[in-house]
Amino acid sequence: MSDVKVYVRFRPTQGTEKNYTLQGNQDVTVDGHSFHFDNIYNESTTQKQVYEDSGSPLVQDLMKGFNVAFMAYGQTGAGKTHTMLGGQTKSEYGIIPRIMSDLFACETRELQIQIQCSYVEIYMEKIRDLLNPASDNLKLREAQDLKQPQQVTMKRKQPLAYSVNKKSVYVHGATVQELKHMDDMLELLDTGSKNRVVAKTLMNEASSRSHAICIVMITITDTVKKVVKHGKLFLVDLAGSEDIRRSGATGVTLDQAKMINKSLSTLSHVIQLLTESSAPPHIPYRNSKLTRLLSDALGGNSKTVLMLNVTPALDSTFETVKTLQFGTRAKMMKNHAMVNQDISLESYKIMVDNLKAEVSYWMVKFKELEKQKKTPRLVSYDSVPLPIVTVPNLEAKTVMHVRQDTPLELSVFVSSDEDWVDHAIVKCGDLIIFDVENLFRFDRF
Ligand SMILES: Nc1ncnc2c1ncn2[C@@H]1O[C@H](COP(=O)(O)OP(=O)(O)OP(=O)(O)O)[C@@H](O)[C@H]1O
Ligand SMILES: [Mg+2]
Repeated sequence: MSDVKVYVRFRPTQGTEKNYTLQGNQDVTVDGHSFHFDNIYNESTTQKQVYEDSGSPLVQDLMKGFNVAFMAYGQTGAGKTHTMLGGQTKSEYGIIPRIMSDLFACETRELQIQIQCSYVEIYMEKIRDLLNPASDNLKLREAQDLKQPQQVTMKRKQPLAYSVNKKSVYVHGATVQELKHMDDMLELLDTGSKNRVVAKTLMNEASSRSHAICIVMITITDTVKKVVKHGKLFLVDLAGSEDIRRSGATGVTLDQAKMINKSLSTLSHVIQLLTESSAPPHIPYRNSKLTRLLSDALGGNSKTVLMLNVTPALDSTFETVKTLQFGTRAKMMKNHAMVNQDISLESYKIMVDNLKAEVSYWMVKFKELEKQKKTPRLVSYDSVPLPIVTVPNLEAKTVMHVRQDTPLELSVFVSSDEDWVDHAIVKCGDLIIFDVENLFRFDRF
């Protein structure tokens, strides 16, 4: 079981906003409510510092073959998109470009990394392909629903890892782009961001009106160990919760806000159920596209990090407390992250060959012993002779009782010039079965 890591980031105050003072690294008190998180970043924490603390350890997890999810949650205008995507210059890069840049840097001659990426948004409860906006009502499927996963995988160019984990939920028909260099990723993010639905509200000049999810499928081939690992990386910039009176949303923007709030409350509900002391057997992931697509990240096979974006503005205190309460609940979730690994056919062959060689070695050794008629000896550690010290019949199992009064450490020697092949502490009354066929090991009863 792995814990969900939860971090908090306070953005700088803007305009005439009045703010309260933060204290400590992991503890914060807002409006009389005290909270404890994995770390709390204040308004002067840089993009680099945020990434190095909260995002960079995930690259190692991905390279080990774990699924990973990084989600930004919080009130509208609190800095989620800034944290996930950031600006155009390297120092302003957010979590997504930084994690991807480090991932590309992990490739070596021995470790080949194949990276495929989809970029989708959930807008008004429909899934749109941000790399091909004409596909605007994509469906979610489970790999196990496919009758012949391998064949369909090839035909539809779905990422390899979908076929590995049969329960994996994926966006059917979303563009899957193969990435060779960091430049490919930056181009993909640029295309996706331009296609994302954004609107101006009173709370944010460029408010994201959808949840944007970057899905990265990674296949790591260790050419030396002949092992293939798969990691699935979800990078999620959620739409912000919104107090409609304050955001001034009307018309379409109002409909968007209602839908955003509804889908965030489904997310909250799923997390609430997952953390109840007697969690129900059925978690309603299917109640929203977001929770279903993120089901691995929520109590499933994933290492999950949640970034709570908040503002220190006094007039947002209510939303800030609600966000921190959401994070406290999410921190109680227990995930079950596992390494996704297959062993290649080639490495199975090597393993079988090694086993065959070992069997032949022991067969030869056994035959040699038979020929030489060497008599295995049982010797006590301090050379006290036993009533039965030799095993006369090499073909059979020999059973004997220990009759010494004091416990002895027994060793089995096959010949005088070799080390012992087995040993044990025996005491009076023990029944020892000395098993010649099983490489001279003995069992004690
Ligand atoms: N840590 C920060 N440092 C500097 N500027 C920030 C920081 N966080 C946020 N901002 C600025 O605040 C504004 C709102 O941020 P952003 O768009 O990231 O909010 P959001 O949480 O994504 O909101 P929404 O839910 O409406 O999409 C932007 O102009 C952004 O550049
Ligand atoms: Mg945003």
